[in-house]
Amino acid sequence: MTFRQQHLLGIEPLHPTEITTLLDLADSYADHNRSGKAHRDVLAGLTQINMFFENSTRTQASFELAGKRLGADVMNMGMQASSIKKGETLIDTALTLNAMRPDLLVVRHPHSGAVDLLAQKVNCAVLNAGDGRHEHPTQALLDALTIRRAKGRLHRLSIAICGDIAHSRVARSNIMLLGKMENRIRLIGPPTLMPSGIADFGVEVFESMEEGLKDVDVVMMLRLQKERMDGGFIPSEREYFHRYGLDAAKLAHAKPDAIVMHPGPMNRGVEIDGNIADDINRSVIQEQVEMGVAVRMAAMDLLAQNQRAARGPKEVMA
Ligand code: NCD
Repeated sequence: MTFRQQHLLGIEPLHPTEITTLLDLADSYADHNRSGKAHRDVLAGLTQINMFFENSTRTQASFELAGKRLGADVMNMGMQASSIKKGETLIDTALTLNAMRPDLLVVRHPHSGAVDLLAQKVNCAVLNAGDGRHEHPTQALLDALTIRRAKGRLHRLSIAICGDIAHSRVARSNIMLLGKMENRIRLIGPPTLMPSGIADFGVEVFESMEEGLKDVDVVMMLRLQKERMDGGFIPSEREYFHRYGLDAAKLAHAKPDAIVMHPGPMNRGVEIDGNIADDINRSVIQEQVEMGVAVRMAAMDLLAQNQRAARGPKEVMA
């Protein structure tokens, strides 16, 4: 067994062999999900709590479905309506939930580092479903699985990540994962949307889509994360689409078989032309959603296995 983590807090602590182990298992779950066979019971008897302190459609639904497919008891905490609104601290909420003895805690939080902090206070496995601008590990893993299935490999590919890099946890996790697997990463976007210290990431940076997309295998578009912007980062959405929105003319600079990705939710006509997003010959956006369920099944399966091993047979019996 080459997956040694107790939690899935980010891509940063993962060894490449751990990434491969998780993707291999997710790959078999993806095939299993397509076969329409009966659900498995690898998480039977376990309780999964989803705590989303930030709105989410696909990630929360995907974690919920993944848990249910594996037989877990899944509970969604509506954190918007919870005691947080009444002034309870994150730590108090964590301790309260911990006392209910969940096995898996899936957390999304608007502040970078909040999920790591929470993981230190509970004794179940914690999965980060996105914390501020920091990490979104299951998104990077599902992107990796989508790329591996489309391209037949996950190394020595040329991958462009485009748009609002500065505010994106998806970009951070992807840069780390794709870098660990020895791919060439290009970041394309206006300087105002590039994080500071980008030179340390081992990536190439471009201001022009036409130059940056030249001969790439994968084009990953990002949403303009307006909710994280506290000023004018772009002149106007129209101007942004003109310079950075992915349309057929810009995509023509990539390899003829380059795939187009987007983590969703998409702003059609802002960062991507709707026709490109819907082009089944180029866009793998729906596959990304499909692989999301498989990757989350694999992540929870592996963490539950490690939890069982750590608790030992005695506690399992009790
Ligand atoms: C991303 C997120 O929440 O970070 N979405 C997602 O998880 N599918 C990206 C985004 O919000 O733009």
